[in-house]
Amino acid sequence: MTQVLVTQVRGKTGAPLSALLVERGAEVLGGTRDPEALRLAGVTPVRFAWDEPDTWAPALRDVDAVYLVRPDWENAPEIIEAFLAEAEPSTRVVFLSEQDADYTAPDGWSPRNEAAVRGSGRPWTILRPSWFSQSFTDPRLFAGAVLDDGELPFPAGDGRVAWIDARDIAAVAAVALTEDGHDGQTYEITGPEALTLPETAEVLSTLLGRQVVHRDLSIDEALGDSTGFARELDALTFERVTAGRFAPVTDTVERLTGRSSRSLRDLDLPH
Ligand SMILES: NC(=O)c1ccc[n+]([C@@H]2O[C@H](COP(=O)([O-])OP(=O)(O)OC[C@H]3O[C@@H](n4cnc5c(N)ncnc54)[C@H](OP(=O)(O)O)[C@@H]3O)[C@@H](O)[C@H]2O)c1
Repeated sequence: MTQVLVTQVRGKTGAPLSALLVERGAEVLGGTRDPEALRLAGVTPVRFAWDEPDTWAPALRDVDAVYLVRPDWENAPEIIEAFLAEAEPSTRVVFLSEQDADYTAPDGWSPRNEAAVRGSGRPWTILRPSWFSQSFTDPRLFAGAVLDDGELPFPAGDGRVAWIDARDIAAVAAVALTEDGHDGQTYEITGPEALTLPETAEVLSTLLGRQVVHRDLSIDEALGDSTGFARELDALTFERVTAGRFAPVTDTVERLTGRSSRSLRDLDLPH
């Protein structure tokens, strides 16, 4: 039986991925900082934290494959390199990167993360998803603002985003983790259509059954009082939205899973 470590198993892609892997008959180790709290059917909790390197080797013991979700921290490239050095050389690695990952600031961070995977000596597949549709169910992102204020504050200009459902990223990851033929591949993963932010707000209005209006704002306004690396990274991400870097639509979900990708219109939003 294939044994797979899923890092950030309680996250947006980790949770649906673990369910798909269980369905495929894999033995799933779910990496979390709080194993006691993990309630995912068929998943064996394993303590795992990016800032506690002594949790890495025990979590990797005997696994055939790992789903690697990077921490969005400045030292992520070094962390990824050190983590993968602890894996058996045959361990298959499926790495969650992002669409348009060749941008070079700050300090080449995104390409350096991917380089740490490609240079690891382990068989790898890189997933480059667009923005997740589940950004609108995460209170750390837009759920609070959208649900409570009827407003979607998002600096985008005319930029479009091909929102990708995290369940579809999970479906692609499940294929890459358990089937042959994906080593050395880099997959851009998007939803079926690229929406402007006013169009996105219209879709959210329909899903919520009440009006949500897009409010364009400057990137500085959107970043509020965040500082340091997180601010730089978020600023770049919004600049890339405005520049249309998340607009290209790909057929990766259909090619790898045999079914169409879900649209933002398919998102489950609590009314
Ligand atoms: N959101 C998007 O639109 C988007 C688009 C493209 C790429 N990405 C990438 O996708 C990844 C996931 O992003 P997300 O913000 O949406 O997160 P997420 O999937 O919601 O994951 C959050 C999880 O991270 C785990 N976590 C937090 N701190 C940790 C630590 N120190 N060590 C280990 N695990 C920790 C937590 O699990 P426990 O509490 O169980 O430990 C939490 O459940 C990021 O690398 C991001 O760059 C996101």
